This record gives sequence, C-alpha cells and structure tokens, in this order.
Amino acid sequence: MLYAFELSGEHETLPRAEVIACLDIVGAVYSEHAFFDQCLVVDIAGSDEIVEKEINWISKRLSMSHYILKVAGICDNDVDTIIEMSGNSDISSHIIAGETYVVRAKRIKHHTDIHGANLEGRVGGSIYRKGYSANMKNPDVEFRLILTGRCVFGSIVAPVDRSAYEARSPQKKPFFYPGVLMPRMARALVNLSKTRDGDVFFDPFCGTAGILVEAGLIGTGVIGVDVQAKIIGGAQMNLEAFLPGYSLFVGDACRVPLVDGCVDAIVTDPPYGRSAAIKAESLHYLYAHSFAEMYRVLKSGRMAVVVSEQRVDGFARDAGFIVVETYLQKVHKSLTRIILVLRKE
Ligand SMILES: C[S@@+](CC[C@H](N)C(=O)[O-])C[C@H]1O[C@@H](n2cnc3c(N)ncnc32)[C@H](O)[C@@H]1O
Repeated sequence: MLYAFELSGEHETLPRAEVIACLDIVGAVYSEHAFFDQCLVVDIAGSDEIVEKEINWISKRLSMSHYILKVAGICDNDVDTIIEMSGNSDISSHIIAGETYVVRAKRIKHHTDIHGANLEGRVGGSIYRKGYSANMKNPDVEFRLILTGRCVFGSIVAPVDRSAYEARSPQKKPFFYPGVLMPRMARALVNLSKTRDGDVFFDPFCGTAGILVEAGLIGTGVIGVDVQAKIIGGAQMNLEAFLPGYSLFVGDACRVPLVDGCVDAIVTDPPYGRSAAIKAESLHYLYAHSFAEMYRVLKSGRMAVVVSEQRVDGFARDAGFIVVETYLQKVHKSLTRIILVLRKE
C-alpha cells in the first residue's frame, strides 16, 4: 500500500531522511516509490492494521512532516487528469458509508499554477458522486491533493502535531540560554540517530537540554554532560518540566564519566568557538578528545549525530567513526550548520 509523507519545506533533504529513519526504527518493510519536492511516497508492506499502527507511531516521532496520507492516486498536474484520476480511484478503504469528507489542495512552490480552491471543489464533486457527503467544518475524512512534481491524492491517516514543538520552544522553557537548536531540528536529529524507547541516549555537550528533552519524550533514558555548573542547573529545570527521570553531570566531554559501550545513541551540538563557551585547551583538543570519547562510550553498530559550524568529519574519522551522511543547514548569512551522521562499526 502506498503512503505519502507531506514534508515540511524547512530543509531539502532532512525531512525525507527523518521519515526513512523512522520507518527503519519501527521495522517497516518498505520501498521508496517516489520522491517529489516536499512529498515522499513509500510502498509499505503488511496488513492494513499493522501498517497503520506503524504509521501512527511514526507520526508521533516526526517533526519535519505535516501529514501522512494513504495514497488513492498519483497523476500529472493537469486539472482534467486529476478529476479523472480522483473519479476512477477506489476510495472504499479511505472513507466508509455515512462518513463525511473535505478535500484540500496544497500547492508546493511553483510546480503548477492550478487554482487550488477550484480543484478542491471539482474533486469534492467526484467524491460526492460516489455517494458521500461533504462537510467543510468537521469532516470525518480529509482528502488532500499535494500539487508537487506530480499530483498526489490521498486521505490523512495521521497528522503530525507540529504545534507541540512550538510549545517547547527555548524561550518558553523554564531556563533559557541563547544558541540552542529549535525543538523540531533537535527531534529530527534524535530520529536520525535511530534511537528507540528504552535506549540509553547521551548528549556530552547538553547545554540547556534541548536535545535531551526531545530524546526523553520518545522514551529513551537520557544522560547529559556539560562543563558549566550553571548550565547544568538550567538543564535540570528544563528536564524536570518534561521528563520523569534523567541523569545529568557537570563534567568534561573530553573525559566522560561513563564506561565503554554503554550508550545506544548520541546527538550533540558542541560549542563552535564563537557564541558558545568552550572549556578546553583549544577547539582542536575539544573535538579530537570529545569524538574519541563519543566513540568509546557508544555501542558498536549504533549512531552518533553531531552538529557543527565547521568541518569536523576528520576528527570523527580519526576517532573511528564511519561518516554515513552529511547535511548542510543554512541558518543565516554567516552560519551554515553541518550535520554529521556517524556510525560506530
Ligand atoms: C552549543 S551549546 C549546546 C546547546 C544545547 N544543545 C542546548 O540545548 O542548550 C554547547 C555547550 O557545550 C558546553 N561545553 C563547552 N565546553 C565543554 C566541555 N569541554 N565539555 C562539556 N561541555 C562543554 C557549553 O557549556 C555549552 O553549554
């Protein structure tokens, strides 16, 4: 069965990578069917019941998607073709007799100049002719037309609650300190680390615990280290507000108080040497020793995700890591983040 992930436009490739990581974590049997601008279509094998359980679980972890749709049809961006496709689609597994529906169109960037409201009405008409009633305000089922490289038509099976991330924005937390990752980015990185509930999750430069909160909310046991006692005090306030349990240490990421191979996943945002405080002989020393420590405490076969403002892949390789993926994120004119996804073989 085909499912479409309506991706946010906040990054070109991270939202897709986050979905793929979540499909892997949940153990879905899938293949990629198509990837359009802000829309990933995957073919997921299994009974409807199992797949929808997987989809539901994934929707609670994702941060860079808007909706997950069950696909009813895909066609070219041409009004007559879309009306014909929606009319010919078997929607009996999307809506049952007596349920009401609405159709919404989402035009992605400049892929088409089709007028969305007009299209919604005409596709709505084709569903009406199949014997269902429309309800604009409180429908049982929402059909979506994603107008991207092609038109993807389907019904929402799970929305992603993006507002929950806004509610956890750094300024709304009990303790704020500048230079933190936004919660949606932090969650996406946690997902890229392929951590799952019950794992031991570690951030050796935890700061105000923005990453630890996102990891803890999906059920991992979180451990954080930061060299500044004042910041660890703030991290504690933030963790108290969201999680029932956690471990925090005032310490040095270059000499971590953990035994070898005890951690299942690492996501961290070390100081860049500009805004954030560095406590080390030099930035070179900090990166060389902290990567060695991350490698030492991580279990074999597991992942670390490290954010930096400069190229640090050499330090990662020297420590023994395999560089699996690199993503660039332009924050503003003079700041491009480099996100390294690493594996310990
Ligand atoms: C970019 S901030 C991390 C922000 C964090 N992600 C958050 O949510 O607040 C980097 C952190 O590294 C800490 N730090 C600097 N040198 C360190 C060291 N040698 N060991 C551990 N932490 C260190 C700083 O105190 C700072 O809080």
